[in-house]
Amino acid sequence: MADDTTDTKSSNQMWGGRFASGPDAIMEEINASIGFDKKLFAQDIRGSIAHATMLAHQGIISADDKDKIVHGLNTILSEIESGNFEFSRQLEDIHMNVEARLATLIGPAAGRLHTARSRNDQVALDFRLWVKEELEKTEQMLTGLIAAFLDRAEEHAESVMPGFTHLQTAQPVTFGHHCMAYVEMFGRDRSRVRHAIEHLDESPIGAAALAGTGYPIDRHMTARALGFREPTRNSIDTVSDRDFAIEFLSIAAIAGMHLSRLAEEIVIWSTPQFGFVRLSDAFSTGSSIMPQKKNPDAAELVRAKTGRINGSLVALLTIMKGLPLAYSKDMQEDKEQVFDAAESLELAIAAMTGMVRDMTVNTARMKAAAGSGYSTATDLADWLVREAGLPFRDAHHVTGRAVALAESKGCDLAELPLSDLQAIHADITDKVYDVLTVEASVASRKSFGGTAPSEVRRQIAFWRARN
Ligand code: ARG
Repeated sequence: MADDTTDTKSSNQMWGGRFASGPDAIMEEINASIGFDKKLFAQDIRGSIAHATMLAHQGIISADDKDKIVHGLNTILSEIESGNFEFSRQLEDIHMNVEARLATLIGPAAGRLHTARSRNDQVALDFRLWVKEELEKTEQMLTGLIAAFLDRAEEHAESVMPGFTHLQTAQPVTFGHHCMAYVEMFGRDRSRVRHAIEHLDESPIGAAALAGTGYPIDRHMTARALGFREPTRNSIDTVSDRDFAIEFLSIAAIAGMHLSRLAEEIVIWSTPQFGFVRLSDAFSTGSSIMPQKKNPDAAELVRAKTGRINGSLVALLTIMKGLPLAYSKDMQEDKEQVFDAAESLELAIAAMTGMVRDMTVNTARMKAAAGSGYSTATDLADWLVREAGLPFRDAHHVTGRAVALAESKGCDLAELPLSDLQAIHADITDKVYDVLTVEASVASRKSFGGTAPSEVRRQIAFWRARN
């Protein structure tokens, strides 16, 4: 589908006699949006059918003209869907392209469609409908990603791994618990998506250019027909507002940040040095020169897509920040940002869902790493508090000495003989060895939201009931 064609009917001609000649080539180039807003064709046609139906219902146009208009619009819809529509750049945007074709198809009745509306409320409507559908798709995709994590968490509710702070070994956790952290993050993203759908669920059509209209339109009727909760309340705000697009981009940026952190963890975990996970061949690539390599390209690209999404958010915020009310043509630049971010986000969620489902988890490697780096030192300190009655600060100090001794001997805490431990604190008994294993460590952390397998299973059940 070419953007510019030999179609000689320009938008200037459609506006009548005020413009003597066609637009200068550069003007046409900067002004036209058809190259990207043709993506809105289905929403544009749906909106026009609802508008024409309402105009006829209110006696503003005849039933006969309405029938012609609706029939013509449906013809255009199938022409575009089947690739038999010639988009013209001279006709500027999707709205004018559809209207001009309607005139060719049905003649003068086409001229009645634009009664009581403007391209300002028309574009606000089309774009809102598009963003709403995209949010609904995002909601579903996040549900799929959450489901993938729930399955992996269930499988690995007992698999121990090192938990990190500062990317230094901190305390043992379970891989299931780590997976459930992502369920919380993507669960918050999904609830942001649901709130955004609620915010934008108001119909802009009928705000007209900015002031409303003198025709006896019924905005509640068009709102209902288009699946909106209600019409917007202020016509000036309606044609000035792009919050729904900015909200989509903000949500995409936050979800992208979450996806990027996951991507970064997968990149780290899949190195031979960590070896916690192995990506399937489907989500990795080889090197053209180093035969041993298996690169996590998909994860790296998810990490990079986040940069693009952030760029789109900043771009649209910047476009909007200086605009006086109501509509300005600057606002035409909203669409490419949202389209690009939507494509990036969809791809990133899909790739991550696949990676999470496909990756092989090396539980032996994780367990070995979980026990290294004196990860159960806190358990020794807690034992001293519980069994020997020490204040936590003193227990921390005693444990620090035990870690230093183990380090100087090149062994783990559990490998220090009891005599060594008793030399540091006389009240230590051989019962202490029970808490120094990684399994005992995770099993003890039963506090609400903690890493104990029983607690992780409770968290999984909570989310299963909501997914
Ligand atoms: N193509 C325009 C856009 O995307 C449609 C609205 C044009 N309105 C106007 N007053 N020129 O914003």
